[in-house]
Amino acid sequence: MEIKVFKNYQEMSEGVAKLIINQVINNPQSTLGLATGSTPIGLYQQLIKDHVENGTSYKNVRTFNLDEYIGLSKDHNQSYFYFMKEQLFNHIDISLDNVFIPDGGTHDVEAECDAYNQKLSQSPIDIQILGIGTNGHIGFNEPGTPFDSVTQKVELVEGTRKDNARFFDSMDEVPTHAISMGIKNILDANVVILLASGKNKADAIKTMVEAKPHVDCPASALQNHPHVIVYVDEEAASKLSK
Ligand code: PGA
Repeated sequence: MEIKVFKNYQEMSEGVAKLIINQVINNPQSTLGLATGSTPIGLYQQLIKDHVENGTSYKNVRTFNLDEYIGLSKDHNQSYFYFMKEQLFNHIDISLDNVFIPDGGTHDVEAECDAYNQKLSQSPIDIQILGIGTNGHIGFNEPGTPFDSVTQKVELVEGTRKDNARFFDSMDEVPTHAISMGIKNILDANVVILLASGKNKADAIKTMVEAKPHVDCPASALQNHPHVIVYVDEEAASKLSK
């Protein structure tokens, strides 16, 4: 694992944006794995800025998102589909035909998961962007998820629901389940970029990097991947030994 420490969130976001922009310029047909949550918003802002100022085109880029809440339709303002449109897709020239996000509004979750795995196997991810939960989750793969898991229905732990409650009017409205790409799907990406910012991520980052890989910290599975780059700000890196 390569670790890149940046002074603050802004510099971290600019650093990772450069890498994604170079990828898209070098291969305009790239497949990107994208994440939701607060952490990648700065990256998406940089991609939008570059698209507007320099014209980097996403016309032939495909994207796969990590996860989606079950029970929220695509047009629900807390769905991850809605988030991605607001934060990125509406502001660049990507075709929504090339955008893949599990459908959390489906009546047949199992069929949706199978179809997503099938699509992923046909379209290997060049670069996967990840955040990390305070409990070490990646996507919605909570502690205990086997490292060979693929896209499936998952139950959100209480801590994750609390972490995400800030986006909803009340805790009762936070969904209890999601569809999440599995850890194996994430490990199948050619390159994995994990982003973390702030003191509240410092413990998870230390465990991910320094502890022996274990299902208690899903992100520690990344130690088994040949090309992972961790982009962190100084606060998130503050508990690393070296
Ligand atoms: P955050 O979420 O970016 O909102 O901190 C990260 C995650 O839970 O994976």
